[in-house]
Amino acid sequence: MRILSVVGARPQFVKLAPIAGAMAGRAEHVIVHTGQHYDDLMSDVFFRDLGIAAPDVNLAVGSGKHGAQTGAMIAGLEPVFEKYAPDWVLVYGDTNSTLAAAVVATKLHLRVAHLEAGLRSFNRRMPEEHNRVLTDHASDLLLAPTAVAMEHLAHEGLADRSVLVGDVMTDVLYSVRDRLLAEPRPTPFGLPTAGYYVATIHRPDNTDDPARLRGIVEALAGLDRPVLLLAHPRLRALAEQHGIRLDHGALRIHEPLPYPELVAAVMHSAGVVTDSGGLQKEAFLLRVPTTTIRPETEWVETVDLGWNVLANAVDAIAGAVTRPSPPHTDAAPYGDGHAAQAVVNELLGA
Ligand code: UD1
Repeated sequence: MRILSVVGARPQFVKLAPIAGAMAGRAEHVIVHTGQHYDDLMSDVFFRDLGIAAPDVNLAVGSGKHGAQTGAMIAGLEPVFEKYAPDWVLVYGDTNSTLAAAVVATKLHLRVAHLEAGLRSFNRRMPEEHNRVLTDHASDLLLAPTAVAMEHLAHEGLADRSVLVGDVMTDVLYSVRDRLLAEPRPTPFGLPTAGYYVATIHRPDNTDDPARLRGIVEALAGLDRPVLLLAHPRLRALAEQHGIRLDHGALRIHEPLPYPELVAAVMHSAGVVTDSGGLQKEAFLLRVPTTTIRPETEWVETVDLGWNVLANAVDAIAGAVTRPSPPHTDAAPYGDGHAAQAVVNELLGA
């Protein structure tokens, strides 16, 4: 069987790693990179560090407005799908690359499977929400990471195409964590264990309005410990454009980290402050308290279990970050680290 994976943005490379591993020797796996992310630190480093084969095709689409970027991907993917004629197209998460691949597969009558199906923020301002809803409804097989995701799919009439496989990010996180426990790495800037916070900010709702971005930066700069701010290119560009200084107060600015370094930095931190979906969950799996600068989250289990607090208002951030530690939990809402095998079993059996 031939399975064609389409990836393009940073979080998708992380999810691809355990899938590519589980596919080895069981199916022919074609990897197509749209080129949505293209900087070494946003793309190539993940293939190197996570042992993923170089993509068979890279469309090098690059950045752009939603329509232009997604349209270029659609035009670029069509001949690739025609050439490879895969038994399954596998799409990941909720980026513009996900939606573009789902549209092309549907138009060509190719079966499409959506990994990380059923997540909902119910916030239609988010491009990711459009992408995931449209992709779920276009897909033939919905591979859900959690029981909550299964419920959302059932509410939308998609239960008969849905299967609970667990979360592949748990697979990759646990394997990298175990590697790090065997071979520890130093923390960036030589920051002491539990003596700093890790922060990331990249969502348009937080970066694009200068007053809001300035408020968030000031809240982080005023925290009680050093804040390792891993600056996405969008954050750097918009801060510069709006004349907002990042490097002051508690803030220590750093480029985005390769995945093993990110996991090491989070593992040894006192807490995470973020608007990233993946990082909320990674911090939870490492049992590091998180503050999420968004009005809602798709990963509701992290909030329900007390490890994640939503602080969308700028003046709520400091109080949330410095709250007392949450109670211990053994709950495993994101599976046990064997989701990728379950995904491949579904694709091969279906
Ligand atoms: C995309 C995804 C988002 C995901 C995020 C992870 C969509 C709609 N959004 O958002 O769901 O959480 O990836 O990072 O697909 N840029 C570079 N170098 C790169 C990539 C981007 O400089 O390698 C800059 C460009 O200025 C670009 C901007 O970052 O315009 C935004 O990149 P884009 O891929 O459009 O969206 P992200 O914000 O990264």
